[in-house]
Amino acid sequence: MPARSRPRLSALALLAALPALALAQPLTLTVDASAPGKAISPDLVGIFFEDLNYAADGGLYAELVQNRSFEYSAVEQAAWGPLTNWDFVKRGGGAGDLWIDTSGPVHPNNPHSALIQITNAGEGVGLANSGFDGIAVKAGEKYEFSAFARLLNVGGRRDSRPAGKLPLIVRLESKDGAVIAETGVEASSPAEWRKLTATLTAGQTVADARLVVLAKAPGLIALDELSIFPQNTFKGRKNGLRADLAQTIADLKPKFMRFPGGCLAHGDGIPDMYRWKDTVGPVEQRKQLPNIWRYHQSMGLGYFEYFQFCEDIGAKPLPVVPAGVTCQNSTRTRGTGQQCLPLEDMPAYVQEVLDLIEYANGPATSTWGAKRAAAGHPAPFGLRHIGVGNEDHITDGFEQRFKMIHDAVRAKHPEIVVIGTVGPAPDGPDFTRGWKFADAERVAMVDEHYYKAPQWFWENLSRYDSYDRAKPHVYLGEYAAHDVKRRSTLRAALAEAACLTSLERNADVVRFASYAPLLAKRGHTQWTPDLIYFNNTEVFPTLSYEIQKLFGNNSGDHWIESRLAPAAGAGLPTDLAYSSVRDSATGDVILKIVNGAASARPLRLDLRGFPRLPAQATRIVLAHADADVANEDGRPPAASPQSASITVTSAFDYEAPAHSLTLFRIASR
Ligand code: AHR
Repeated sequence: MPARSRPRLSALALLAALPALALAQPLTLTVDASAPGKAISPDLVGIFFEDLNYAADGGLYAELVQNRSFEYSAVEQAAWGPLTNWDFVKRGGGAGDLWIDTSGPVHPNNPHSALIQITNAGEGVGLANSGFDGIAVKAGEKYEFSAFARLLNVGGRRDSRPAGKLPLIVRLESKDGAVIAETGVEASSPAEWRKLTATLTAGQTVADARLVVLAKAPGLIALDELSIFPQNTFKGRKNGLRADLAQTIADLKPKFMRFPGGCLAHGDGIPDMYRWKDTVGPVEQRKQLPNIWRYHQSMGLGYFEYFQFCEDIGAKPLPVVPAGVTCQNSTRTRGTGQQCLPLEDMPAYVQEVLDLIEYANGPATSTWGAKRAAAGHPAPFGLRHIGVGNEDHITDGFEQRFKMIHDAVRAKHPEIVVIGTVGPAPDGPDFTRGWKFADAERVAMVDEHYYKAPQWFWENLSRYDSYDRAKPHVYLGEYAAHDVKRRSTLRAALAEAACLTSLERNADVVRFASYAPLLAKRGHTQWTPDLIYFNNTEVFPTLSYEIQKLFGNNSGDHWIESRLAPAAGAGLPTDLAYSSVRDSATGDVILKIVNGAASARPLRLDLRGFPRLPAQATRIVLAHADADVANEDGRPPAASPQSASITVTSAFDYEAPAHSLTLFRIASR
C-alpha cells in the first residue's frame, strides 16, 4: 500500500486509543528476593468488632432469648420497655397477672424481673419470647435453658403456703404452637433467687421458634434472666458464640481483634461510657447499657468472652477503652458535644485501666487476675496493646485525660503498647492536632480511620511511603471503601486490596489494619457496608471479606522489593497495585497484584534471587468483568477466589484479568 493512502489515526483517535494501547503492552513486574527488603509487622491484618448492627446480642453472642433480663428501656427505643419481646401466655383456662417488679432484684445491676401470679393454672400460665426475629433451632441439636426463679407463694390463695414447689414446663414451640422440644423444671421455696437449668433437644428444624415457660400450678413466682443457648457454640464455650459466625471470622485468620468499638467504646454520654468492669463476672450481675446505635447491650458478650474469643482464633486482643471523654456526637448529651469525666474521677478511672491490664495478664493470685481465674481462665491472656480513645475530638479536655491514662500505663506497664487516636478522618483539624499531640507525648502508635470512595484509595496508595519512621507507628483501625449507595462491590473490595498492598509495603510503620465494621444483621443494620452480613441461620460474606481473608491467610513478616517497569513509551498505571512479602514460617514468597482496570493487563513477571526456581506455586484469582457485582445478597456468589497449582519460572507472562486480585504463593525453600 502506497504510504500516502495508508489510513492515519487522527490525534484525538490516538489519544482515545492510548489507554487500550498501554494496557495491551506488557509491563514488567520484578520481584527481587535477594534485595534486603525490610522486616514488617507480622500482625498487619486483623478485625474490628463493634456491637453495631446487632453484631453482639442477636448476632455473634449465641443467646437466643431477646431481652432475657427485662432490662430493655425507652432510652433505647421509644416503644421499648421491660416486657419488650415477651408475651404473657395463659393456656387452656389459665388465669393470672403479670407485673414488672423491682423490689427484690437478682442483682442491683439487673433491677427488673417478671412477677407472675397464677390464679388458675389451666394448661399453663407464663411467658413466651420470640428471640431475635425468631429462635432458630436445628433438629437433633441440644439447647441449654436456664432462668432465675424466686418462688414467693404456692397455692394462689391468701392462705396458701409461702413454701413448696411449683412445676414449670419449658418448651420450644413453632409459631403455630407445635412443640419442638419440651422439658420440666421445678421452682422451690424458700423465696430466694435460684438458678433453674434444663436441656432441650429440638425435634425439628425451625427458623422462628419461641421459648415458652408455663407454670402448672397456682402461685406467685418471679422470673429473670431466662436464657436459651445452643450447646453447639464456637469451641463449645459456655455463654459462648454462634458457631457459624465465629468460624467465618476465624477463617479470616485475623492477627488481632479490636473490641468493643468504635463509638460504642466512648459511648453516648458519660453514663453510657463502656466500662469494662461492668461486663465481667456472672452474666446476671453485669451492668447492661443502652447501645449508642439505639438498641440494647446485655453485656453477655463482655471482656472475658472477648479475650477468650481472641485466644480461640489466635488473634492478639486489642481492647479500646474510653479516654475519659464521650463521643462528641452523643445525642443523649443533647448537643453538648464531647463530655469529659470530672477530673476528680480520673484517678479512679486511670486505676480502672490499670486493673484491666491486671485482669488480662496478672497472676491468678492478684485481685483482678483472680476474677479472670474464677471465670475459668487462670492463665494470662497475653494482652500487649491497649487503645485509649476512639475518634475523639482532640480538645484540651481530651489531651489532659489521655495523658493521665497514658503516663500511668507507661509507668506501671512499659510492656503495654498504648494506641492513641487522631480523630475520625484521615486529615483535618483533629487529625493534625491529634498527631502533633501524640508525637509530643511519644505515644507508641496512633489509630487512623478512613471511610472513602474507592477512587480515593487508589489515589492515596503512597500515603505511608513518606511517613516519618521516627514518629508514632500507625494502626489503621477503621477503613472501608464506600462505593455508590455504600454497596459492597468488587470495585470497593479491590480498592481495599490495593490499599492493603500499600500497607504491606509500609508495614514497618503501619503495624495493624482492620476493615470496619465487621458484622451486620440483615434487617437490623445501622451502618453499611459491612464485612459479613448474616441472619439467624445464614452467613453472607462480602467480596471485601474475600479480600481480607486472602490477605489474612497470606501475610508475611518481611517485605520484598518489587518494582514495575513501564512499557515503552507509557507511564506507570494508576490502577495497578502490587506487593510481595515473605512468610518466614514457611519460607513462601507471596506476590499480590491488583488490577483495577476494566481490561485484562498483560504482565511480564521477573522473579529474581529466589533460591529455587522453577518452583511450585498456588495462584488464587478473584475477578469479575463487572466491578459492580456484590456477593452478599443470598444468591450464589458472583465472584469467588479460584485457586490453581502452577509451576513458576524465573520469568513468565501473566495476564491479570479485568477487575482482579491475583495472588501467587511461591514455595521458596
Ligand atoms: O465503624 C462504624 C463507626 O465508624 C465506628 O463506631 C466509629 O468509630 C466510626 O465513626
